Amino acid sequence: MQTWGRMGSLFFSDEELGKKDDDRKPTKLPHMRSQWSPSSAARLPQSRVLKRLAIALVLGLCLYLFIHNIPADLPIRDRRRPVYNHLDDSELEPLPPKPKPMPKLRPARPHSSKPTTKDEPPVPASGSYNGRIQFKNLGASLNAISETNGEYNANRNVLFAASSLKSAAVLLPIACQMGTMLRSYVHFALMSRSEIAFEELRAVNGVADSCEIIFHDARVDHSASSADTRLGTAVTRAFFHIHSYMHPQVVIVDGSSLEETFFLEGVRVQVPDMEVPLIELDADAPTQLSWITKLDSASLAAWDKISIDILIQASSGASGSLIRLLKSLAAADYSSGSVPHLTIELPHKVDPPTAKFLETFQWPPASVYNPTHAKQLTLRHRISSSGLTEEESSVRFVESFWPANPGHSHVLVLSPQAELSPRFFHYLKYSVLEYIHSNAAVVQQWDSRLLGISLDLPPTHLNASEPFVPPVKKVAKSRATESDESTSFLWQAPNSNAVLYTGHKWVELHRFVSRALELQRKTKPPLPAIFADKAISKRYPSWLEHALKLSRARGYWTLYPSQPTAGNLAVVHSELYKAPEEYEADLRKTPEPAELSLTPGPLLESLPGDGSLLHFDDMPLLLWDGTPTNLVGLDASAADYAAEFRRAVGGCDSLAPDDLIPRASVGDLFCTRDD
Ligand SMILES: *[C@@H]1O[C@H](CO)[C@@H](O)[C@H](O)[C@H]1NC(C)=O
Repeated sequence: MQTWGRMGSLFFSDEELGKKDDDRKPTKLPHMRSQWSPSSAARLPQSRVLKRLAIALVLGLCLYLFIHNIPADLPIRDRRRPVYNHLDDSELEPLPPKPKPMPKLRPARPHSSKPTTKDEPPVPASGSYNGRIQFKNLGASLNAISETNGEYNANRNVLFAASSLKSAAVLLPIACQMGTMLRSYVHFALMSRSEIAFEELRAVNGVADSCEIIFHDARVDHSASSADTRLGTAVTRAFFHIHSYMHPQVVIVDGSSLEETFFLEGVRVQVPDMEVPLIELDADAPTQLSWITKLDSASLAAWDKISIDILIQASSGASGSLIRLLKSLAAADYSSGSVPHLTIELPHKVDPPTAKFLETFQWPPASVYNPTHAKQLTLRHRISSSGLTEEESSVRFVESFWPANPGHSHVLVLSPQAELSPRFFHYLKYSVLEYIHSNAAVVQQWDSRLLGISLDLPPTHLNASEPFVPPVKKVAKSRATESDESTSFLWQAPNSNAVLYTGHKWVELHRFVSRALELQRKTKPPLPAIFADKAISKRYPSWLEHALKLSRARGYWTLYPSQPTAGNLAVVHSELYKAPEEYEADLRKTPEPAELSLTPGPLLESLPGDGSLLHFDDMPLLLWDGTPTNLVGLDASAADYAAEFRRAVGGCDSLAPDDLIPRASVGDLFCTRDD
């Protein structure tokens, strides 16, 4: 009782304590106080028990009323959300009484009673209002999106945000295209100084209902008369609230000079804090990056996680080709991500023109924004002057790259004969995001079969003596007529001209080469035919033979582009052809295959439909020798080859059936038990 008494005197002044309670509603503290007097301390314990009972009763009643009222008043929230308290919610007033079910998404109407005229009065550059931050309309639209699972970390929400109306005009058509794909819930939040009505914003930008954009009015109160600092703070607060209710998988803004500085500053602070990728589109985005509208939220969430390294194995006497390749790399567009790290393997004897070119070669290219002058170029120069053997060459090459995170780092292998189009990097990023990270790819584990993504369509089979005719897709033009259309396809044969190898498969190739060389060293010659026979022409480097064996034993495939797309990505020249060093002596005079050339044009126009990437299920599938097949056929041929491989290795009889389950260590192929 002493404690309660002291607390009472903390809350009420002596005067208040002495006053009668007539003017106050009876609450627990005054109620207790009314019974507290110096004499009450000496009362019998029975009266104390009674008092406590009364207190407990009152408390219980309060608790009951509180609990009873919760569901009606507070939105249901994710309990795992780390830091979010009621104080924060107060900025979002007024909340609607109940979360609405998600309709076919009407935008939140601004409550502003001011009619907006057709020609807006010029927006004041900067006001001075700096009051407490309130979002009048944001609560309503955020409460209405609970069906999108926005309170959970994993969902399908994509957020576009803009402050400047010009930036909104850049973003809305992109958001509209993405919305119509129906692969993600596309949200658009306006954090503007402008008081434009949303209806007008939609009308001006031609946003129809078919765009399926969910609008959020994230403008702070008194936005038009606010100081820039207040608007900047409001941006970070708005993102905080949006994050709590939406957990967007990616945030897309206009990073160009059209956008307000206070907005971009707020975004660049707050979005990385939310651990969400931020895509800042630049002025060319509508044409160059239009493929991002085809991606789903899962792909976009991996936007800044993937990294691509480039690996070039140069040979002596081929300066012209190498310089042509490096120039094409430097001229390419890397606006869809960071510039890849570039590693060039130089031979023992570096040609003078190459050395001279490399002296001034800038990587990242000078055209790329690089404020810290970071260098991303590694030159490796071989010591040994004697020619490489097949074995040495394979080891040296496969050692040149190692993925730090195999799920996210990949390597683009380039032959010095290749020349790339300025758009190749867009295609690579688009394909990696779609074929490795999209919801469909993750659910169906597409990447488990995918060895690589080729930019080039080879003109011959791997033995370089037979022309390769790419498969076509039959497309029904009308009821009676069908026509053949060029299509991307899956081929068990790998390549080395211009191919991205996925991180996981590179790791496996590394282990395969390591074990194959170990086996060769231990085996007394002659080697079993399966190791000694070469299926691949000596025009290709020796490590490719290992990649083919791995593909044959596992049923892996490489994705090849259709003919029109290939012409848009890369060309492999033959006029300055130089054999790989390990085969130089064998390959002086070979007939040159016919050469393709790069066709200029937007990337998406060469892709089927409106620029979509085909699903793996919709592509023709070829065995390594070009025979059309299906998944069952591929698996059967892989099982046969693996069995033959194990027979040649010998010693697999002692392995338990469990040890023969394919695994990344490739121990099952080389008859070694993994620990
Ligand atoms: C080259 O490979 C193709 C396809 O595997 C095959 O049909 C052809 O017989 C091979 N040519 C030679 C000379 O081995």
